[in-house]
Amino acid sequence: MFDKLYRKEEIFGTTPSPIVVVAMKELKKKWNGNKILNVLDLGAGQGRNAAFLAKNGCMITCVDSSEIAIKYLRENFPDDCKIIHCKIEDFEDKSTYDMIVSTATLHFLKREQIFLTFNRIKDMLKAGGIVCITMFIDDRGIKTGELKNAFCDFDILLYEEEIITDPGHPGAPEPHKHQVARLIAQK
Ligand SMILES: C[S@@+](CC[C@H](N)C(=O)[O-])C[C@H]1O[C@@H](n2cnc3c(N)ncnc32)[C@H](O)[C@@H]1O
Repeated sequence: MFDKLYRKEEIFGTTPSPIVVVAMKELKKKWNGNKILNVLDLGAGQGRNAAFLAKNGCMITCVDSSEIAIKYLRENFPDDCKIIHCKIEDFEDKSTYDMIVSTATLHFLKREQIFLTFNRIKDMLKAGGIVCITMFIDDRGIKTGELKNAFCDFDILLYEEEIITDPGHPGAPEPHKHQVARLIAQK
């Protein structure tokens, strides 16, 4: 599905998701801007968030299952970014991260895999590390309150749920609504 969409240039734009900008500020508060921060982007797409994070001095690992997105990232990102072509469900890594972001992606996983991924995020984060997630919570894997609840052992810095109107896109061209949840939390 995404391979087809990504044949058009930068379909999600080049500006970062606003919540990632907020999360980066939180991360900088914690680390005082003094060291290179290790950040994982799950479902990086064409890297609009990763590009912003790299500009802010982070070392990025991008994971995505779309061959076209990965090709785009490999062509457009510096050599020191780690770009991994695999499903989030199959991603294996012994690294630990200062921040893990995932925007508009985790709702594509099955419910059980979503919760497994939340647990893996918790394990992969360093103490004091930040998780930043946006995902749909409507007719998909998880329901209202469940994202916040999954991270109730973290310090919740931001949590909101909202119904947004999507003007339409290839595959669903008519305007439609989604319920979205947004979370920033600190381990
Ligand atoms: C809506 S896009 C969002 C991309 C990016 N996070 C952004 O906000 O611009 C969803 C991305 O998740 C990827 N994706 C969907 N399911 C995935 C999975 N199970 N494992 C890895 N990537 C996945 C798609 O290939 C796509 O690039």
